Amino acid sequence: MTKPQIWIAAVLVLFFLLFFLEKNTNRSDEQVKGAPPSAMPQTDQTAQAKTPEQLITSLGCTSCHGSDLSGTKMAPDLHNVKDNWSRDGLINYLRNPNSYMSTKRFQDFKAKYPNVIMPSFNNIDVKVLGNIADYLRNLK
Ligand code: HEC
Repeated sequence: MTKPQIWIAAVLVLFFLLFFLEKNTNRSDEQVKGAPPSAMPQTDQTAQAKTPEQLITSLGCTSCHGSDLSGTKMAPDLHNVKDNWSRDGLINYLRNPNSYMSTKRFQDFKAKYPNVIMPSFNNIDVKVLGNIADYLRNLK
């Protein structure tokens, strides 16, 4: 081989080496991605890592129900939910508040807060809603 040919051969070998190295590192990345803990959606993980107080703030509950959840012009006091809701009932309510609007209590709420709609939180993990329900039922 002439000198230039040797150079070209060397560059080609280097190129292939880099190519295979890169391929292998990619494969190990994919393996890490497929591992069970990181397969969970990130939002779920962060939601579950939060305390109920943090969730209630980050989900915006306090912006309507007030920073201490004792009610505002926009939404009712939440200190008496224990008297009206079981844990499961409360979880269902948070997932679909509309389906409870026909009861007398909610007709009264509707009259009192005519322009505010309690959002449905059906995109939140039920476990997280359960933590919120427990927290609300223990509000003092
Ligand atoms: C946009 C304002 C708004 C936000 C945000 C909001 N709510 Fe409400 N909430 C209301 C209103 C208004 C009502 C009264 C019922 C109605 O009119 O739909 C209500 C009712 C409720 C009730 C029923 C109270 C009772 O006495 O039965 C609970 C429980 C409740 N909200 C919890 C929450 C929680 C928990 C969050 C956050 C995850 C939240 N709310 C976020 C406006 C809001």
